[in-house]
Amino acid sequence: MPTVTFVDHDKSYEVETGKSFLELCQENDAPHAFGCTVGSCGTCRLVILEGADSVDAPTEDELETVEMCTDVEGARLGCQLVVKGDLVLRAVD
Ligand code: FES
Repeated sequence: MPTVTFVDHDKSYEVETGKSFLELCQENDAPHAFGCTVGSCGTCRLVILEGADSVDAPTEDELETVEMCTDVEGARLGCQLVVKGDLVLRAVD
């Protein structure tokens, strides 16, 4: 089972392959903020420090939202991620 690690909070969770990051957080009360949950608001932005290949590449819509809400290169939207392997990440302020 993949492990998702939140470096800001020193917490890790095991998750079934193919589960959404949003579900993982909701079911485990994981320390990550969400807003709209549909890729529009940018609240859930994060950076994948390790395991970027363990999620699908961002869609054009995701890239548009990321571009509007942060300058951090490679930032992703947590609500759009499906976990397919180990991830190490941190939230983007
Ligand atoms: S929660 Fe709004 S973009 Fe992810």
